[in-house]
Amino acid sequence: MAILVTGGAGYIGSHTCVELLNDGYQVIVVDDFSNSNPESLKRVEQITGKQLKTYPIDLLNQIDLEKVFKENKIEAVIHFAGLKSVGESVAVPLKYYRNNVISTLILCEVMRKHRVKNLVFSSSATVYGATDKMPVSEDAFLKPVNPYGRTKHLIEELLRDLYQSDKEWSITLLRYFNPIGAHESGNIGEDPNGIPNNLLPYISQVAVGKLQRLNIFGDDYPTKDGTGIRDYIHVVDLAKGHLKALEKITSITGVETYNLGTGRGYSVLEMIDAFENASGKKIPYTVVDRREGDSAICYANPNKAREHLKWQASRDIHLMSKDAWRWQQKNPKGYQEIVDPRQTGVY
Ligand code: NAD
Ligand code: WQD
Repeated sequence: MAILVTGGAGYIGSHTCVELLNDGYQVIVVDDFSNSNPESLKRVEQITGKQLKTYPIDLLNQIDLEKVFKENKIEAVIHFAGLKSVGESVAVPLKYYRNNVISTLILCEVMRKHRVKNLVFSSSATVYGATDKMPVSEDAFLKPVNPYGRTKHLIEELLRDLYQSDKEWSITLLRYFNPIGAHESGNIGEDPNGIPNNLLPYISQVAVGKLQRLNIFGDDYPTKDGTGIRDYIHVVDLAKGHLKALEKITSITGVETYNLGTGRGYSVLEMIDAFENASGKKIPYTVVDRREGDSAICYANPNKAREHLKWQASRDIHLMSKDAWRWQQKNPKGYQEIVDPRQTGVY
């Protein structure tokens, strides 16, 4: 069965490609490498010993996308491609609406034309916005607080409308909580551009000596130690969740939403502690003001995914930290050593 993976060279996409190939799927990747490096796909092939097919194209280019559907017999699409920086989305919202919403619209039009109606979409816990009721369930009120989150919300609505108009579609909306960690090989992982916005990549870069110290955004939240609490999930557990969603969408129609989280929250100080234990490195930090838009606590109610998808996260924060550290140590510059993507041979 051939699966089209948009954004397959990215952080979560590359880990999902490994699981798909290991499970015997044929994998076709569409990625414009705007936030990734083709080296990740080469490493996916090394890890699995299997080949995937890559189209280095922008999803916004409908003519190029048509070609992918003409040349391959695609059964289902996992749609990761998108921009994901909250701060950047505030600065350049139109870029986010175009890249995330319009590209999904084009993808759905091309899918419909080629009668491919099975779709798994990467949504985010960010669609819940500043909700107080924890753990958060799928039926919680949605009020995203930034343009990035609103693109995810809009796409969810677009996909629901699409299903209402044509009941042959089978769509799964996966709302990820805080993906961290890396493949156990240490050969693929998260490779953020510039200074990381997210906690774990920042901590890793302090540990490896690229950054001097971590700023903790507030220690006066109403939590056990005053720092923010999040539901961190190992990227491999997350990747496996996509395979469970695929099994489901290829057998029934409908549109369903699932939280992919562990159901447990950890504070910033607990994450620092876990990473120090895993790496043997001290993480110096300074407490600074709260970051605008941050909530005190956010963690998932993952029961629906457990019951309907038979999926549950199994990797704890110690393994998440160990795997993140292995990736960071083996690749202190991420995939950066590869200067010219065309030399990697994945085209
Ligand atoms: P990523 O940036 O590593 O991967 C996204 C990939 O999509 C990149 O390889 C990028 O080059 C590609 N891409 C972007 N726009 C494209 C376009 N127009 N055409 C073709 N390719 C394009 O991000 P990730 O962390 O792997 O996230 C994957 C998806 O999951 C995104 O949609 C993101 O919004 C969502 N998500 C991520 C997180 C997280 O914390 N990482 C949490 C919740 C949801
Ligand atoms: C985690 C905790 C911070 C950095 C973001 C997006 C969300 C989703 C996942 C895509 C918070 C604290 C962080 C730092 C810190 N992405 N922190 N110092 O904000 O929960 O979610 O990534 O959909 O949309 O908003 O994750 O890793 O940025 O922060 O103290 O340098 O760490 O305040 O409590 P967040 P994060």
